[in-house]
Amino acid sequence: MKSNPLRVAPELRPPNPSAFAAFDHLATMVAVVSTDGACVFANASFENVLGLSRRSVQRSPMFGWFVDPQRVRDTVAAVSRNDFSTGRLEAQLRRPGGSHPEPLLVHVIVNQMEASSNVVIELVEIEQQTRQDREERALDQAQVTKELIRNLAHEIKNPLGGIRGAAQLLEMEVESRALHEYTQVIISEADRLQALVDRLLAPHRKPHVVSDVNIHEVCERVRALIMAEFPRGLTVERDYDTSIPEFRGDREQLIQAVLNIAHNAAQALGERIAEGDARITVRTRIARQVTLGKHRYRLALELHIEDNGPGVPESIRDRIFYPLVSGRDGGSGLGLTLAQTFVQQHLGTVECESVPGQTLFKIVIPLP
Ligand SMILES: Nc1ncnc2c1ncn2[C@@H]1O[C@H](COP(=O)(O)OP(=O)(O)OP(=O)(O)O)[C@@H](O)[C@H]1O
Ligand SMILES: [Mg+2]
Repeated sequence: MKSNPLRVAPELRPPNPSAFAAFDHLATMVAVVSTDGACVFANASFENVLGLSRRSVQRSPMFGWFVDPQRVRDTVAAVSRNDFSTGRLEAQLRRPGGSHPEPLLVHVIVNQMEASSNVVIELVEIEQQTRQDREERALDQAQVTKELIRNLAHEIKNPLGGIRGAAQLLEMEVESRALHEYTQVIISEADRLQALVDRLLAPHRKPHVVSDVNIHEVCERVRALIMAEFPRGLTVERDYDTSIPEFRGDREQLIQAVLNIAHNAAQALGERIAEGDARITVRTRIARQVTLGKHRYRLALELHIEDNGPGVPESIRDRIFYPLVSGRDGGSGLGLTLAQTFVQQHLGTVECESVPGQTLFKIVIPLP
């Protein structure tokens, strides 16, 4: 008995990949494979997740994409022998595109195809739903926090000017040197707070300057700044897809966002810099059919900033985008909050995946 077979006209054997083009509009990963694992077709979502071009996806044997290929192989064999019409299993999908350290947990559904010995494999990210919920919640939460911080910063800013001014007046009045030290402490601490408050208010105050942005100009600028600050022991590699079109955006904001992320990477790389094998990779790619927030976009830009440092400390991993969360001595914990705000102003998202030795920050911004 067959349930849910996909109808493919017999004259399409051997299958004509363009016959499956409609699969490209699906958000789930779909591939058509033969029983020996040769890939006949993989849809756009599949390419995105694997991080490979369609041509290399279709050249590589599908079983090798899984951490435990044998179980998938057995299921495909059983389905094509008609032991059962649909096979389901959970598996871990590798992402050989190189940019994701961890395999992806997926639900695999293998279905027979009518009039063909090929099977359709559908993969649903097990995390996808929970992740989407989490992202939405994080966005709401970020909005509330930002509002709170902004109001608080304003409240601090006004009296702060008064405190500093009064300390200056006092300094002129008192003659004792010892007392001058106290007024100096007040003044310099007031200045430090002022600088913090200015950074807290920065994303709200800065006017948007919208122009055509070339993402590679942004990357090159950041690369130059990082290399100037860390001239030895750190390699900043670039891996660009130069076909990415320009888009409307605020260039300075994007430079700041990418710089904050790259700067964290360079700071985390301290030990490796001393050993001389620190590496940051800046990678750009085009992604198709991406969902960001509640919207779906046909095209998006992916910018990866990856480093081979020790990884984000486990204790703050879920909270690094929150303001004032820092794992570093002397850090104010605002760099990533600002980066996220700037990217969100471009309707995009920033995500982080981190294991010791490989930390990836991924910026996704929709393209026109
Ligand atoms: N690439 C990375 N590798 C390891 N840890 C990281 C990385 N990026 C960020 N972190 C961790 O996330 C924390 C938060 O980063 P964020 O840029 O928001 O603040 P900060 O760097 O501490 O201070 P600020 O950027 O405001 O000077 C960092 O303190 C660090 O512990
Ligand atoms: Mg930082």
